[in-house]
Amino acid sequence: MSVFSIRPMSETDVAAVCLVEQQIYEFPWTQKNFIDSIQAGYEAHCMWIDYSLAGYVIMMPVLDEYHLLNISIRADLQGQGMGRQLLQWGIGRGRSAGMQGMLLEVRPTNESARSLYESEGFKLVGTRKNYYPSKDGREDALVLFKRFQQML
Ligand SMILES: CC(C)(COP(=O)(O)OP(=O)(O)OC[C@H]1O[C@@H](n2cnc3c(N)ncnc32)[C@H](O)[C@@H]1OP(=O)(O)O)[C@@H](O)C(=O)NCCC(=O)NCCS
Repeated sequence: MSVFSIRPMSETDVAAVCLVEQQIYEFPWTQKNFIDSIQAGYEAHCMWIDYSLAGYVIMMPVLDEYHLLNISIRADLQGQGMGRQLLQWGIGRGRSAGMQGMLLEVRPTNESARSLYESEGFKLVGTRKNYYPSKDGREDALVLFKRFQQML
């Protein structure tokens, strides 16, 4: 049976994280982006299956909200429920930390991510013009927000 875990990302994980990042994004984060996030104290966690990196999530606390900066699942493991599991874990962590909600940006063309966020209750709250680099210049971002239900 596989052992599944979510653990804080350390600087020694960053090389493996970057291999996944380069595999799945046209415009990947750099090693420095990840190391800066860890050193800044952001919520940076890796998801492991046995000793193999399955994905990772980076959330930046801003006042009483988490800003989801990166959520990624290794290409060969996508579409098996792990992205949803990792997102739900991040939401649960935010709730436990007393956060009020989660904000994120997503490319309008990223249909799988949009579908995941919408099904988890994220709502469109705005757009950011020319936010992302793209093959044709720049691409707008959709800004989504999920307000957390208060735990009684
Ligand atoms: C987006 C991502 C994190 C989702 O993780 P995942 O493990 O592939 O997704 P899951 O298997 O948990 O699926 C969750 C939901 O996403 C949507 N989804 C996943 N794959 C999809 C696909 N190929 N087409 C359409 N929707 C899809 C569905 O709504 C799915 O729910 P369902 O299975 O109940 O239909 C992952 O695909 C990924 O790393 N993509 C590349 C990086 C990225 O785009 N990150 C987000 C940046 S904003």
